[in-house]
Amino acid sequence: MEAPRSAPQPSPEEACPLAGRLPKQDFWEALYRRRSIRRFKPDPVPRELIDQVVHAGTWAPSSCNYQMWDLVVVDDPDLNARLAELSLQLGNAPVNIVVTYGRGFSEENLAGIQSASAMIQNMSLAAQVLGLGTFWITQTGDPRRLAEMVGLPEDRRVVAVLALGYPKAVPPRGPKRRPLDQVRHFNHYGGRPIPSSADPEDWDEDLLTLYQRARVLNGLRHNKPRAWEVRALSEALDRLLPEAEGRWLDVLPCTGILTERLARLRPGCRFDIVERSPEVAEWVAARTRPEAGKTGWPTTEQLPAPAEETYDVVSCFYRLEGLRAEDRAALMRAMGRWVKPGGALLLGFVNARSFHGLSERLRARRGGLGGVEYVLAPDPNIGPFQALSPDVIAHLAREAGLELEAELGLQALPEPDEIEFRTRNFSPTKARLARLGRSALGLAAHLPGARARRGRFQYRLYRRPL
Ligand SMILES: Cc1cc2nc3c(=O)[nH]c(=O)nc-3n(C[C@H](O)[C@H](O)[C@H](O)COP(=O)(O)O)c2cc1C
Repeated sequence: MEAPRSAPQPSPEEACPLAGRLPKQDFWEALYRRRSIRRFKPDPVPRELIDQVVHAGTWAPSSCNYQMWDLVVVDDPDLNARLAELSLQLGNAPVNIVVTYGRGFSEENLAGIQSASAMIQNMSLAAQVLGLGTFWITQTGDPRRLAEMVGLPEDRRVVAVLALGYPKAVPPRGPKRRPLDQVRHFNHYGGRPIPSSADPEDWDEDLLTLYQRARVLNGLRHNKPRAWEVRALSEALDRLLPEAEGRWLDVLPCTGILTERLARLRPGCRFDIVERSPEVAEWVAARTRPEAGKTGWPTTEQLPAPAEETYDVVSCFYRLEGLRAEDRAALMRAMGRWVKPGGALLLGFVNARSFHGLSERLRARRGGLGGVEYVLAPDPNIGPFQALSPDVIAHLAREAGLELEAELGLQALPEPDEIEFRTRNFSPTKARLARLGRSALGLAAHLPGARARRGRFQYRLYRRPL
């Protein structure tokens, strides 16, 4: 008699929840059209679709095939509303998939995290083919509270949350990607390491050029103006340089956010920019005035140096902070040469003797995120940054032969909208404490001299003698 044969195992496609009913989408189409979706319709997602997405996730590779991932799919609106109190990002979609991996498994080379990440990417692509949208969230607020809320035991480590739902709005195109030839090196690495340090002394000019060029080539996601910074700049312009005409040179504008504002506030001036690389100069010109003259500092082969004794106004906002001491002095001297005799240099810097220094120290002590991407202020993050003392600035200006005409200090405490912004992912209690702290100190900030001496934003108007 023939031994009974065990039934053949179904293939993954046969075993998946939507077997036989899966929509078709070209692989490349799915890959390139997937976008992070941050606005969702409130419509619930059928659990059958959720299962299909998760099933696709489980077919990702995992270290040693341990598959130590466990997911908690939160589709209960009440629970999602409570998760949103941990982080606003968890309040966008009708479904939040909490992705966890077993602690202690595949720790070497973070292989557990890598496995969970492969799973998340599989799920994102599967969702895309099913007409759903996803959004990978690492800013999940307090991980212990998140774990508690979804009942995770101690052995589970939360890797990320994948938000899932029907997209309300799909960005027409994705943020820029770094060009292939910058990313791919055949056989031998051809790039240069970028220091993960906020200390300007760790960065030479070349590295700064490379870093800012890379930021521009990848689309500079952090390029939104911050309202409190724009307010400070407008006030400084009104008070220190209420009228200006002629030629204006904005120095190292980087993202161009402030140049754009300057050009709008002083429409009578003709703006030029000086940047380190043609790519960054182009980026700024495109967002301000394409016809702006583009010049280079330090001297580059691709960009001419700004003409000396040419500008009625030279401005430089929060850029000396990113330079090594010797480069700072060289830039100050150069600015003193670019401005016409009798012309003005308008300088903005972040004061080391303000709450800025204190908040940086607190963050360092907490072991909070440091380094390039997370330099606190001024936003947007522009690489190395070190607040400066007013004495250093006064010394540099004297050396450059400039005369002080007026000075102004603003924002001795963070403005209420800055507090709201910076605490947006805090727990409600911590955010309330931060607001209370600010109002308790609010009076002190209005004492005479507080803004002048302790203001975070400092502005100086210098003149080049005739
Ligand atoms: C590990 C990881 C963490 C991310 N965390 C967040 C996040 O916390 N908040 C957010 O808005 N986007 C987050 N994103 C999404 C990225 O910003 C997004 O993928 C990137 O801007 C590219 O856009 P695209 O996904 O539309 O192609 C994260 C992406 C990854 C891979």
